[in-house]
Amino acid sequence: MSRPVRRVPAAALCALALTACVSGVHGTPGGAEGVHDPYFPKAGNGGYDVTHYALTLSYDPGSHHLTGNAVITARATQDLSAFDLDLKGLHVDEVTVAGKRARFNRTGQELTVRPRDDLHRGKTFRTEVRYAGSPETITDPDGSKEGWLRTADGALALGQPVGSMAWFPGDHQPADKASYDIAVTVPRGLQVVSNGELRSESTARGRTTFRWRTAEPMASFVATVAIGRYDITRTTIAGHLPEYTAVDPARRRASEQVLAKIPEITRWGERTFGPYPFSSTGAVVDRADDLGYAALETQNRPVFPGAPDTGTLVHELAHEWYGDSVTPKSWQDVWLSEGFATYAEWLWQEDHGGRTAQATFDALYDHGERTYADLWSFPPAEPSDAAHLFEDPVYQRGAMVLHKIRQKVGEDTFRAIVRGWAADHRHGVADTADFTAYVEKKAPDKNFDAIWSEWLYGEGRPDRP
Ligand code: TRP
Ligand code: ZN
Repeated sequence: MSRPVRRVPAAALCALALTACVSGVHGTPGGAEGVHDPYFPKAGNGGYDVTHYALTLSYDPGSHHLTGNAVITARATQDLSAFDLDLKGLHVDEVTVAGKRARFNRTGQELTVRPRDDLHRGKTFRTEVRYAGSPETITDPDGSKEGWLRTADGALALGQPVGSMAWFPGDHQPADKASYDIAVTVPRGLQVVSNGELRSESTARGRTTFRWRTAEPMASFVATVAIGRYDITRTTIAGHLPEYTAVDPARRRASEQVLAKIPEITRWGERTFGPYPFSSTGAVVDRADDLGYAALETQNRPVFPGAPDTGTLVHELAHEWYGDSVTPKSWQDVWLSEGFATYAEWLWQEDHGGRTAQATFDALYDHGERTYADLWSFPPAEPSDAAHLFEDPVYQRGAMVLHKIRQKVGEDTFRAIVRGWAADHRHGVADTADFTAYVEKKAPDKNFDAIWSEWLYGEGRPDRP
């Protein structure tokens, strides 16, 4: 079963992407602005596929000034005379493509670039964008805050679902993953934590540059930068996996005990979900109030705006497998990320002397709306709109879908599905139809129609079987 996706007629896209279409200077089309995500129609762009971002940033918390240089390596997926990047706020000083200055203009979050020469389908090209300004905090349709967030001693850059365009230009949709080099220069005395591994740290003329590298594919919404004063812990888990954890000193005492569980949770995750998908792990615990959420599953190391509890830590680390490695293709598929991470919390409890997942499921089914008032307000695979993407029907009912599958296929097949799904789509993207097809393939003798139609796509609380 799949949900009909609203299609925008090509002519309408042209009307929206006026600059890209009328340009037609060389007779080849412009890449589309947006990729038809019904929840964020302008997020992401068509016509190319990014393979690498090299971001060189400089930030001064005192003046709140950011300067940036983004070198974006991409492959054209069609002939292009123009293409869009997403960038919100900031001032663009110069754009070059293949080393030549390109014309560009900006409409809302669309930075439309017209290279001097046409780009041919299949060609790999480099775009360099020089930009600067005061990066914005974005308020989401649901009221939560993302983008560039100022903290007491620095800043946090968080990108779910569309915040990354506040600090670098790019193809800001979950389906376009790339490797990253992120270098950030800050006043000496401050630290910078990002995704991947720290390659170098050097100080000159009162400023320190931190160079981070992410070799494994990463969606832009889980890219992060954390700037401030941190207590840093570096260790190795199970003799092979580097952990880098940064904690705001004011949150150290409150988070010490729970963060000490990262190795144990990671090893449990490997037993339950399969090999850890990235080359390092860790966490960032900062001080940022009123974001409207308790954490973000930034790749390699989740960010917590305050000290997490164990359930939240388990949830975020599980996202490394489900969300960061296997990434939902569009925001409509976000239950594949949140449902799995929530189910991971249930499994953790079950495996550590707490409630069984069955008991958690039963309690939710019987009176879940007492705790989660909107639990039955929409089906997990069809969030009503962008303001409700991160709500209980996606998290709790999404986990209930997984439990229904477990009930139907039994323990061994369920474990094989959970691990196999992470292995098959490792470092990739997947949508709900991919998942239902995968489950059906793993249990060919079972009929899942009722689970899909009632639990995944059905309105209201499904009837008791
Ligand atoms: N995805 C996060 C989690 O569950 C929560 C979150 C991060 C969020 N950013 C958000 C929820 C923006 C709503 C809006 O771990
Ligand atoms: Zn989550």
